[in-house]
Amino acid sequence: MRLRGRKGIREALEAQPDLIVLDPAQYKGRWKELFGNDHPIHVELGMGKGRFISQLSSLNPNVNYIGVDMYDELIRRASEKAQWSREENGGTLANLKLALFNIEKIEDMFDTDELERIYLNFSDPWPKKRHARRRLTHSGFVHKYMSILNRNGEIHFKTDSRSLFEFSLNSFADMGLRMRNISLDLHAEGTRTDLVMTEYETKFHDKGVNIHRVEVVIGEQALQKHLHQLEAAQKHEDAQAAAADSEDSSEA
Ligand SMILES: C[S@@+](CC[C@H](N)C(=O)[O-])C[C@H]1O[C@@H](n2cnc3c(N)ncnc32)[C@H](O)[C@@H]1O
Repeated sequence: MRLRGRKGIREALEAQPDLIVLDPAQYKGRWKELFGNDHPIHVELGMGKGRFISQLSSLNPNVNYIGVDMYDELIRRASEKAQWSREENGGTLANLKLALFNIEKIEDMFDTDELERIYLNFSDPWPKKRHARRRLTHSGFVHKYMSILNRNGEIHFKTDSRSLFEFSLNSFADMGLRMRNISLDLHAEGTRTDLVMTEYETKFHDKGVNIHRVEVVIGEQALQKHLHQLEAAQKHEDAQAAAADSEDSSEA
């Protein structure tokens, strides 16, 4: 998404210091201080016009959200969206920051263990093989994410690009990461209203394009929780099968 900054845009951004962070590297290791609490921090890398991060932050006041993009015009649009979202849904903007930053240097913005979740929504696919390293799910980036995510850390990734999705699943698998809730057609059984949609997602979904999604479990605690859930689901399935068996044998 190429955008040319318009006159006065910098001033518009500087006029909203409570919401917009123009020099986010200065908060590395200090985001909790900036938010004024120790709620978990969830970040969308490449938020675009910001609908997703605005709505999520409105819905979940006990989570702090940061939307990152490298274009000032998009930060401005996202700030407008955030204001509208609050007018519609209520709440304050206290748990949302919009940061102008290049994800390539993400390790300069966050310290070890500082984040609980990273959202990658409709990241640029960089289809040419020689550009593979630029894909935000390339192992070079994922290693950086792993260092800034904490024990509950997860990456939630959505895309319309089948080739990027395949590349990403392989990238996560090659790194030995556990994946769950893998979907090749997220809205197959009707639009998922429990998951907030992004601008790109709405656009592609309306055209009938399948949306792919995966959650990647990074942190040790997140992995334990996931394994317990799998175990409980297995026990439940076994109990149901046993009940069905005993019903069959009593009928016989
Ligand atoms: C295809 S758009 C998706 C926007 C939004 N997440 C959505 O789903 O509607 C990708 C976004 O990532 C941003 N982006 C791409 N590379 C970036 C980088 N290295 N640093 C910061 N933002 C980046 C672009 O500016 C663009 O807004």
